[in-house]
Amino acid sequence: MTSTLLPLDPANVQGDILVGLPKKVQHYLFFQIDDDVAAFRKRLHLLIPFITNTTQAQDDRAKIAAHKKAAVEQGKNYEFLQLSGVNIAFSQFGLTKLGITDDMGDTAFTDGQQKDSKNLGDAGAPGADGEFVPNWIDAFKGQIHGVVLISGNCDLTVTATQATVLSIFNVGARITLHEVITLKGVVRPERGHEHFGFRDGISQPAVKDFDTKPNPGQETVRQGVILCGREGDVDANEESEKPFNRPACALDGSFLALRYLFQLVPEFNNFLKASSDPTKGLTADLLGARLVGRWKSGAPVDVFPLADNPAAGEDVLQNNNFRYDFPNDFETQDRCPFAAHTRKTNPRNDLEGPKIGVPTENRRIIRRGIPFGPEVTPEEATSGKTLHGRGLIFAAYCGSITNSFQFIQKSWANKVEFPPKEHVNPGFDPIIGQNKDGPNGVGPRSMVGANPSDQSATLSLPVEWVVPKGGEYFFSPSISVLRDTFALA
Ligand code: HEM
Repeated sequence: MTSTLLPLDPANVQGDILVGLPKKVQHYLFFQIDDDVAAFRKRLHLLIPFITNTTQAQDDRAKIAAHKKAAVEQGKNYEFLQLSGVNIAFSQFGLTKLGITDDMGDTAFTDGQQKDSKNLGDAGAPGADGEFVPNWIDAFKGQIHGVVLISGNCDLTVTATQATVLSIFNVGARITLHEVITLKGVVRPERGHEHFGFRDGISQPAVKDFDTKPNPGQETVRQGVILCGREGDVDANEESEKPFNRPACALDGSFLALRYLFQLVPEFNNFLKASSDPTKGLTADLLGARLVGRWKSGAPVDVFPLADNPAAGEDVLQNNNFRYDFPNDFETQDRCPFAAHTRKTNPRNDLEGPKIGVPTENRRIIRRGIPFGPEVTPEEATSGKTLHGRGLIFAAYCGSITNSFQFIQKSWANKVEFPPKEHVNPGFDPIIGQNKDGPNGVGPRSMVGANPSDQSATLSLPVEWVVPKGGEYFFSPSISVLRDTFALA
């Protein structure tokens, strides 16, 4: 790829990456391309006008904000604007099917997520041929060529857009795309909160020369950390910051790690209750906050270690303004356990600070997931047992799956020695950490520091409350590459 690049054109980047498609509902249509590849590519050309680019996603968000403001000013009930967005991304299987032979320069992407599942710590066992088979649903065990992301204000809008997308690819008896499975995400009634009840999607990196007004505490990363071929798209494992040698079709595209993650919510809540000790100040709420690194409101425990501060939790000027660099933060877990989910997945000063001095810019991801499944029923709450599937369709964009998403899961969340501390091993990330060293790929997990007044005590984490049941790695190309390389006019 040439080194003299034009400045980034947001209209050429798919809208979910840097801005996020506005969504109350989002469908992920996983598909296989039919044998007539040329016909598929022609149909793909017709889809391009429906793809929402970054400029359009920004406009849609501005429209929603103006509409909300007008409703408040007029004292009216706010009704969602009818809006829909479409993006598309392809797996390595999809690229191969399309005849695109370029090496995208990312081992995890090239191998696919099923091959990577053991690495990620997913439960499973060797199959008849000795290859590891994860405990995933069947849909994700076969080849998936791509995914269409369809978002909107309600199920009706999204279903209608999905029908339009399918009608472009499949006309009459002429089928060019087969649906493998459609996952349906929907925001919870407690908006912005995932199923364990915590506000999510707060901490995202700002992208240089695009997000020009970062919030306090929000770190700015070079464009290449998220977009291939841009400044900062370097091999994080090379000391010399060697730029990746990407093919031309990678420019301004981004890798997308998608995971179908079930959450055992009643079991998680029961555990918090059973492991708390309110008489000694360790309430279930405080314990939950210390496992996540934030109170349910979103307020970070590093800043608010003793009590929640809901106003700060929703205030973007306060809710990301911390670095685990209060005096003694590096050595003690008075404020935040070393193994807390947010600290494991973005250790901030633990690595970047003067004690260790390792930059983490290339480990950053932009998260765009959405919950799926119903609310916990009274029956589930009483029995403490999950009866209905629910969880998170986890979606993360990055300039390298190997260096960021895979690294975070494998080398940070699953590694008991991380973040590195002199006298203690922090343990597993209690939310997503996986110990594959046990029968059927599930081993015991524990962490230290959950109890602020007994920080060396080990807390056993008896259940993996987040259960992966599928996923794939995709590449979300720029609009021009989609038009000129992937599609056929
Ligand atoms: C069902 C599974 C998961 C749940 C319930 C969950 C929940 C949360 C919550 C509540 C936050 C705090 C809100 C925020 O800072 O935005 C968060 C942050 C984060 N999560 Fe997860 N998460 C899940 C899976 C994952 C996975 C699989 C990864 C990556 C391997 C991941 C990476 C991150 C990162 C990077 C942050 C931001 C940390 C920071 O910058 O402070 N999460 N997650």
